[in-house]
Amino acid sequence: MLPDLSEFANRNRGSNAICVIWEIGEEPLESLYAVVGKTLDRPAFERYDRLFWEKDRKRYLCSHFLRRALLSKLTGVPKDEILFATNRFGKPYPIYGGSHWSAEKWNFNVSSSGNRVAFVATDSGQCGIDVETFSGDKRQPDLKQMSKSDIFSAREKEFLIYGPGSLEQRFYQIWTLKEAYLKYTGRGLGDIENTDMFDLMNLQLPMKDGRWVSDKGDAAAFHSSEESYALSVVVKRDQAMPQVHILNNEQVFSLANGTFPGKRKSDSHA
Ligand SMILES: CC(C)(COP(=O)(O)OP(=O)(O)OC[C@H]1O[C@@H](n2cnc3c(N)ncnc32)[C@H](O)[C@@H]1OP(=O)(O)O)[C@@H](O)C(=O)NCCC(=O)NCCS
Repeated sequence: MLPDLSEFANRNRGSNAICVIWEIGEEPLESLYAVVGKTLDRPAFERYDRLFWEKDRKRYLCSHFLRRALLSKLTGVPKDEILFATNRFGKPYPIYGGSHWSAEKWNFNVSSSGNRVAFVATDSGQCGIDVETFSGDKRQPDLKQMSKSDIFSAREKEFLIYGPGSLEQRFYQIWTLKEAYLKYTGRGLGDIENTDMFDLMNLQLPMKDGRWVSDKGDAAAFHSSEESYALSVVVKRDQAMPQVHILNNEQVFSLANGTFPGKRKSDSHA
């Protein structure tokens, strides 16, 4: 269940972090679109319209709805007054409009996989998130083969072979951590081969209470491995670790109460 987000946002200003996972389930695209479709501004709708696969359309729609609805609840800025721009590597960030400058501190990141959309927001500094669904997917990657790939540093490969837990757990721990970290920095996967998480964060094993223990760098990482998915979140070191809230369609749809005024000419960013 989601807490009262405006109360949450006011509680520990400057160190708030929240993570929400939307379990979309098997809801048909049409019914999702009927409830949240109006939230897409024009550029987002154009990207949506180019997507070929229904599962991609569902994830895209839900991801774009979730960011707008949750940022609005957290900041008090009306949903349709939040615009989105991207950095040069494609990381989106919100623009809250002239009269809402105090909301500027709220940042977010999103990830989607399978029937899940994951969202993280922080009220100071950057954040990054990665969710990977690993059961029920018939196209499971060959983890042994992937573990040998150059996307992992020598130290990471050592962890993949000898670290605690199963290969699947280790693989998704380090993979989601790496991706969440690279999304935290805003540079994306372009840097993946030059990134050694053990060196960057001086990670200590085993993790404690789902956190990677680290005494180096400006970032802190949280990890959760559930039966069917793995999730990593990276936030600034002095930020609270986010609590994860899992929402179903009904709970998310309640965030859509009130209708959106539609696409505006000024929504020139995606
Ligand atoms: C972003 C990236 C990590 C996505 O990986 P993925 O596993 O396919 O997707 P995820 O579901 O985890 O995340 C997708 C979301 O990440 C966000 N994102 C995109 N680029 C990002 C970046 N550089 N840093 C952080 N987040 C980014 C977006 O919100 C995107 O969803 P949206 O397009 O619907 O808004 C990968 O595509 C990437 O590395 N992009 C950057 C590529 C680059 O260097 N481009 C050069 C300039 S064009």
